[in-house]
Amino acid sequence: MKILFIGDVAGSPGRDMLQAYLPKLKEKYRPNLIIVNGENAAAGKGITQKIYKQFQQWGAHVITMGNHTWDKKEIFEFIDDAKNMIRPANFPEGTPGKGITFVNINGTEAAVINAQGRTFLPAIDDPFKKLDELIEIAKKRTNIIFVDFHAEATSEKQAMGWYLDGKVSAVAGTHTHTQTADERILPNGTAYITDVGMTGPYDAILGMDKEAVMKKFLTSLPVRFEIDKDGRNQLNGMVVTVNEKSGKASTIERIMINDDHPFDS
Ligand SMILES: [Fe+2]
Ligand SMILES: [Fe+2]
Repeated sequence: MKILFIGDVAGSPGRDMLQAYLPKLKEKYRPNLIIVNGENAAAGKGITQKIYKQFQQWGAHVITMGNHTWDKKEIFEFIDDAKNMIRPANFPEGTPGKGITFVNINGTEAAVINAQGRTFLPAIDDPFKKLDELIEIAKKRTNIIFVDFHAEATSEKQAMGWYLDGKVSAVAGTHTHTQTADERILPNGTAYITDVGMTGPYDAILGMDKEAVMKKFLTSLPVRFEIDKDGRNQLNGMVVTVNEKSGKASTIERIMINDDHPFDS
């Protein structure tokens, strides 16, 4: 099974890139399962129901979230009915939504889990313990388990990769919006990357208008960050090959599409 994962889609530039390149990526990689991180899909913060539906129309089977899950208030109206959307599983008990979902791909089941780190991010429940619980549940149904670990600290992400090596098919980091070049298959068969990067503004700072971010650093004054709309755009992601029976990964390939790394069909 081939799994295509797209990093944090940011605002309309990110959505445009996703719409433009998903057909090309499908043709090139022939993925069976497509997962898209949508925590920044609506103007950089959160997601709307319209965008959630749009992503599925374009081919996404699962939409994962992160620390921006609640930024668009309408999320509370549709998250409990959004079968294919998951938010970090280690949010406190009783939080709306869910952190794990199962997808049936032509009779083969796959589990997708979203979790969030706690280093330099709000103090939520322990993601390691939560993943132990969810993996036990998932293993009763499938060995194909994909984890989007939304975290800031490289060390916490690497710890999660090693902790889950051999227990899941892939641990893909998100949240920093900058792709890392450390993709590998860990010794027990788990595909790992610290961060897949982001999809959206390329001539920007983590997707945001660079003038505003620079002003913040230069003056320390309160500044409103907005999605950059003036520059070029990019798409970041990865594709992994997973054995359907064992759930072990055999290949991981980074995807980076921008003017400096043009798409190669
Ligand atoms: Fe993000
Ligand atoms: Fe994030």
